[in-house]
Amino acid sequence: MKRHNFSAGPCVLPKQVIMKASEALLDFDNGLSLIEISHRSKPFVDVMEKARALALELLGLEGKGYKALFLQGGASTQFLMVALNLLEKRAGYLNTGTWSAKAIKEAKIYDDIYEVASSKNANYNYIPKGFDVPSDYDYFHCTSNNTIFGTQMKSFPKIDIPMVCDMSSDIFSRTLDFSQFDLIYAGAQKNMGPAGTTLVVIKEDILGKVSRKIPSMMDYKVHIDKGSMFNTPPVFAVYTSMLTMQWLKDLGGIKAIEAENEKKATLMYSEIDLNPLFKGFAAKEDRSIMNATFTLENENLKETFDAMVQEAGINGINGHRSVGGYRASMYNALSLDSVKVLVEVMSELESKA
Ligand SMILES: Cc1ncc(COP(=O)(O)O)c(C=O)c1O
Repeated sequence: MKRHNFSAGPCVLPKQVIMKASEALLDFDNGLSLIEISHRSKPFVDVMEKARALALELLGLEGKGYKALFLQGGASTQFLMVALNLLEKRAGYLNTGTWSAKAIKEAKIYDDIYEVASSKNANYNYIPKGFDVPSDYDYFHCTSNNTIFGTQMKSFPKIDIPMVCDMSSDIFSRTLDFSQFDLIYAGAQKNMGPAGTTLVVIKEDILGKVSRKIPSMMDYKVHIDKGSMFNTPPVFAVYTSMLTMQWLKDLGGIKAIEAENEKKATLMYSEIDLNPLFKGFAAKEDRSIMNATFTLENENLKETFDAMVQEAGINGINGHRSVGGYRASMYNALSLDSVKVLVEVMSELESKA
């Protein structure tokens, strides 16, 4: 049975990437597996260099003073690394969901954090707008896409302090002027690869401005100086991420995938809006093109709908416990056909009800 994988993460990856990654597990370098050769060997150093270069190329940031790193510890480790490396006195954070709140909690350990705005009062179903970011702060932090709540920032404040963005769940999915950000981080396990590595893209000139001592593993400068090889990198996750970025480049890059992502999101949201059995969770203007959150108006239909979903081979649409209902994650590698299958099941429910 064909499966349609709407999982929020880890999630769907391109089939050809998974095939190629599996081959490399068996034979990457003349009979040796990718996971049994030295990370310092030329074949793997080439992989790391290619992955770093592809990340900058896809984001249009080559030659602009940025470095790409593939680190460990997930996006969650970036919550504290950002603060350790950039926070001297005070930083401004936009609180748009669980992940922003976690970033705030970690940064507060080190220094003063000011929430420039928050949508917590409405269970994070919208993105606050019209807030001010004081120009004497060390940096501003935001989360571009709120995986759990299905909201996405459509614009970013024009500020003259460094802007840090957690793009874990919409990296490489839409065109943006990425040079407006000074630090971007993203756990690989959505649009890039398997769990185990985190992409960090950082403008080098924002570093070296804090007075604290930074432990080596937490220090971006150390990782930059060592070419993202300060310690043994997660070779499989980096290799697979490199393959996915190459797949995206061959497709035509972010612009090409954005067009597909918009088609998928338009189809999904029009069903949510037109079908009287369902209700969208996020404010319309802030809807994410990656994660669509919705609920059933009549909970009595849940059992029937869940059975139909299962029958159709659809995986991973249960909503996060803090929102309930359903969440259809439509990452880059999910096909428009899979969205059509889900939408058909939703409209079939309407004809049955
Ligand atoms: C927006 C966002 N930030 C951070 C995280 C945490 O990532 P990790 O599990 O890699 O630490 C997630 C995980 O889903 C996320 O969606």
